[in-house]
Amino acid sequence: MNHEVIEKKLPLMILLITIVISFGALVEIIPLFFLKSTTEPVEGLKPLTALQLEGRDIYIREGCHVCHTQMIRPFRAETERYGHYSVAGESVYDHPFLWGSKRTGPDLARVGGRYSDAWHRAHLYNPRDVVPESNMPAFPWLFSQKLDGKDTAAKMKALRAVGVPYTDEQIETARQEVAGKYEIEALVAYLQQLGTVIKNKR
Ligand code: HEC
Repeated sequence: MNHEVIEKKLPLMILLITIVISFGALVEIIPLFFLKSTTEPVEGLKPLTALQLEGRDIYIREGCHVCHTQMIRPFRAETERYGHYSVAGESVYDHPFLWGSKRTGPDLARVGGRYSDAWHRAHLYNPRDVVPESNMPAFPWLFSQKLDGKDTAAKMKALRAVGVPYTDEQIETARQEVAGKYEIEALVAYLQQLGTVIKNKR
């Protein structure tokens, strides 16, 4: 079959282009499902505790991920500022992952341990109290809204169904771990563990 035939028959050309592009995509994508480095947790990775898990849901609810990425790229400028670049095995328990691609604020992939709990509380209550030039919104309601823990166990069960290794005990005690705590406690607990499995801070 010569080129002219293909070029004149549009449906045929579309079909052939689709096959060529799909092949390229398959070669790139399929191995990712089998590579250990992308499917297995890094050593020491633990599922979030009940409180941290609720903190993560508050992080999503408040749209923190709209301004903050959790993905340190393997470039010098990034690793000098944020620490060791992010690896896939750190987010295998994240459903959905919160890597993001747009940064209004700094990356938070390794913010765990960078500041004290008190700093985070002050910052979330009113960012301008600790960073005068900040344009991050304030989240004062986190200090008055409490968690009831009603859905925490169900969330953990759902995560277990997709491969997060929660134990029966963790699921059973989830509600009492969470109930009555202020939302700010959960959010700070979540922030303080981010990226701490691989330690190489700035
Ligand atoms: C409108 C965009 C925006 C939103 C939404 C936002 N932030 Fe920020 N954040 C920023 C900016 C800008 C900074 C840098 C200035 C500062 O430190 O306040 C920042 C800084 C931070 C820092 C300090 C990071 C560091 O390494 O110094 C943390 C922690 C943080 N934000 C957490 C959060 C959390 C948690 C939420 C959700 C409750 C949130 N942010 C929502 C814009 C945002």
